[in-house]
Amino acid sequence: MLAMDYRGPKRVRATQKPMPEIKHPEDAIVRVTRSCICGSDLHLYNGNVPDTRVGTTFGHEFVGEVVEIGAEVTKLKVGDQVLVPFNISCGRCHFCQQGLYGNCHESNPMATAVGGIYGYSHTAGGYHGGQAEYVRVPYANLNPTVIPPGMDLDDAVLLTDVVPTGYQAAEMAGIQPGNTVVVFGAGPVGIMAAKSAWLFGAGRVIVLDKEDYRLEFVRNYAPCEAYNFEKDMEDPVLFIKKQTDWMGADCVIDAVGAEAAGDVLQTITGRKLLVQAGSATAVHWAINSVKKGGVVSIVGVYGPTDNLVPIGNVLNKGLTIRGNQTAVKRHLPRLIEHVMNGVIKPKEIITHRIPLEDIADGYRIFSDKLDNCIKPVLMMPTAR
Ligand SMILES: NC(=O)c1ccc[n+]([C@@H]2O[C@H](COP(=O)([O-])OP(=O)(O)OC[C@H]3O[C@@H](n4cnc5c(N)ncnc54)[C@H](O)[C@@H]3O)[C@@H](O)[C@H]2O)c1
Ligand SMILES: [Zn+2]
Ligand SMILES: [Zn+2]
Repeated sequence: MLAMDYRGPKRVRATQKPMPEIKHPEDAIVRVTRSCICGSDLHLYNGNVPDTRVGTTFGHEFVGEVVEIGAEVTKLKVGDQVLVPFNISCGRCHFCQQGLYGNCHESNPMATAVGGIYGYSHTAGGYHGGQAEYVRVPYANLNPTVIPPGMDLDDAVLLTDVVPTGYQAAEMAGIQPGNTVVVFGAGPVGIMAAKSAWLFGAGRVIVLDKEDYRLEFVRNYAPCEAYNFEKDMEDPVLFIKKQTDWMGADCVIDAVGAEAAGDVLQTITGRKLLVQAGSATAVHWAINSVKKGGVVSIVGVYGPTDNLVPIGNVLNKGLTIRGNQTAVKRHLPRLIEHVMNGVIKPKEIITHRIPLEDIADGYRIFSDKLDNCIKPVLMMPTAR
């Protein structure tokens, strides 16, 4: 089968690989019909995630058709069209029982923080991902969700990560009615966070990014105020303070993570020298622009170690900071309803359809924010 192949930082290609096989009675094999490239893949692509092994297939956002099931799979049948949450979770452990599907204790037993994630290095369990024609799906009784009849596959694939992640970002921000919510980042995740902030009762939503085309999109889509932190202001923290009567925002969401621009020291140490696990610029700005007693919600992904953040200010301001990998499955019932009712229209963020064969171009376009790219979807030869 044709699959994405990681060869080293900034080097990816499509190549022939062996078909995945059932390894456990609860596994299923899924023929992928849509698969996305995510901002999270850029951390792998740029070499920011430890133990990303050459030969790995990335891809944690995919939908497809069940083509084979293990002996103990009872909740799915061959032919089902499924959307597969990016988290690999067992459903039975202490954490899954609390709905913390991103923190499963069984699917990534070598780690203490994160659970298994498709195609996300050996620090997230070493599973191959779905940027491929076929993928092995463990715990198939729990994770895959049958796509409701009538739902567009483009909407469905965005329910595997981007929509729930934006939604959980807003949920973790603890938004009270009328609150001012600031979102750093107008990528797919930041766009969905801004949209979701209204669903939690925000009174004002402000988004900062440096890509005008993304700011333009989110301004209309969320809708919200959107500013370019490189062109419209000298200092983003000062800017937010001025916008909020010098109080700071009630809630600030970091939807940027390790690839953040905007601070030379952070960029050199976090992105060039890799002496810290990514550039902590957005989280830094978030801590300093939230009001005292406020909430910082972090969904932007950083590596296992992180420093050079103003942690002293977290203490002195009495902040609540929340972060996690999104527990996709927990949000799906409500979000499927929102999509079916048209409250959220995920597929509007899809800007590019890229044949799997051209995956190297896909990564470059998305990574370098070329051609007004917001969200690229990969199209598999077997699904065209
Ligand atoms: N926690 C989770 O479960 C989860 C799930 C999905 C994605 N993520 C993470 O969310 C983040 C965003 O994902 P995405 O797909 O939207 O990525 P993306 O790369 O498309 O978007 C990031 C945006 O941030 C902007 N940006 C860069 N520096 C900034 C700064 N200092 N302030 C404000 N904006 C800045 C970029 O211009 C870009 O538009 C990534 O870190 C990704 O790993 C987390
Ligand atoms: Zn993702
Ligand atoms: Zn579990």
